[in-house]
Amino acid sequence: MRKLVLVAALGAAALTFGIGSVASQQAAEVKTLRGVSPTVDVPAPDTPHQNVSGRFDRAYRQQPPLIPHQIDRYQIDLKANQCLGCHDWSVAAKNGAPTLSMTHYLDRDGHQTDTVAGTRWFCTQCHVPQVDAKELVENTFKPSQTK
Ligand code: HEC
Ligand code: HEC
Repeated sequence: MRKLVLVAALGAAALTFGIGSVASQQAAEVKTLRGVSPTVDVPAPDTPHQNVSGRFDRAYRQQPPLIPHQIDRYQIDLKANQCLGCHDWSVAAKNGAPTLSMTHYLDRDGHQTDTVAGTRWFCTQCHVPQVDAKELVENTFKPSQTK
């Protein structure tokens, strides 16, 4: 009886290791877009702290322009929006910053407002800091108006 239990236990162990090695082989074949194993941590670029000089062209006409400056110190929450401290129409000239365009002062019914529309409150929902990042996979995208 004891022998039988031992044989059964060995059998179970062999099966477990067998399955385990198949699983680890499969895991080794899985590659991320960066071409590394999913178990290797590749830190994402620290975009809010980056300051890439110059201005990137828009890739298409309707694109929200990329932010050409750091944004890590500018808080946006339910009550505060520090971006408006420079970009709102009422203060932009004083700060030498580009004014929000009219589309930012239209409410959802198309009425013009004097204060920024609620739909445009969370700036970073649409605008991201420009980053000089390599593409993860080859990309053949061409802006719509390249000559
Ligand atoms: C201290 C003032 C200041 C604050 C605060 C500020 N900006 Fe700016 N921003 C500027 C200035 C000045 C420029 C123009 C820089 C240039 O032309 O190189 C600019 C440029 C931009 C542009 C590019 C506009 C275009 O026409 O290409 C965007 C988008 C932008 N900022 C978004 C933001 C967002 C979003 C925040 C908040 C997270 C913010 N800014 C906070 C001063 C500021
Ligand atoms: C829903 C998306 C969206 C949100 C939210 C948004 N923007 Fe924009 N923004 C755009 C688009 C799209 C453009 C370019 C077309 C236009 O002007 O409407 C733009 C243009 C701009 C410009 C350039 C204006 C010009 O005339 O060149 C600035 C500066 C800017 N946004 C700042 C901000 C700031 C600051 C906030 C937050 C208070 C903000 N935006 C919120 C989409 C957005």
